[in-house]
Amino acid sequence: MRYWTVNRRDQSIALVGMMGSGKSSVGHGLHRRTGLAVRDTDEIVAGTFEMSIPEIFAEHGEQKFRDAETEALRRVRTEKELIIITGGGIVLRKENITILRNHAVTVWLDGDEETLFARASGKQNRPLLQTKNPRKTFSQILAARRPLYAELADIRVDTSALTAEEVAVAILAKLKRTDPKLKSPRRKKK
Ligand code: S3P
Repeated sequence: MRYWTVNRRDQSIALVGMMGSGKSSVGHGLHRRTGLAVRDTDEIVAGTFEMSIPEIFAEHGEQKFRDAETEALRRVRTEKELIIITGGGIVLRKENITILRNHAVTVWLDGDEETLFARASGKQNRPLLQTKNPRKTFSQILAARRPLYAELADIRVDTSALTAEEVAVAILAKLKRTDPKLKSPRRKKK
């Protein structure tokens, strides 16, 4: 299956969703299946600071990270037909949402809370979860963001019981089913 048979116009495919939703693995799965180049906003930000994400949070704070994240997205906007992997907080800024709306078909990788938390807490590289009660923090962040992901996304995939490869296949199948002739395809939810 070739990319141009499944995607609309020359848009990119952007992956959004909570920490632990598998955006990175799924993004690379999509890359293998479509041949599209991958841009990962976390990687771009880490490259800009020449530091890991936890180091950026510790030394510069979250706001500087968010500024750099938006700047990364502005850079990505200048290219077409990409797989864009985003950080879980990309939906926190209106400018980010506008860029994603105009530039990409946005796919929300969702899942049940326990599964997402188990995946997200497996690695110690999430500064926002370095709290006394990471489980509660995760729950609060997820509750605040779910409506934002839902509002933005063209497509939602429940990743709870799927491997990253299965999610990639599901995304491509859903994109293929999207009618390119629809006048306002991006408002056609899920
Ligand atoms: C964040 C998620 C992280 C990273 C940063 C902030 C968030 O990316 O951008 O730690 O606000 O949810 P992942 O979603 O890839 O973990």
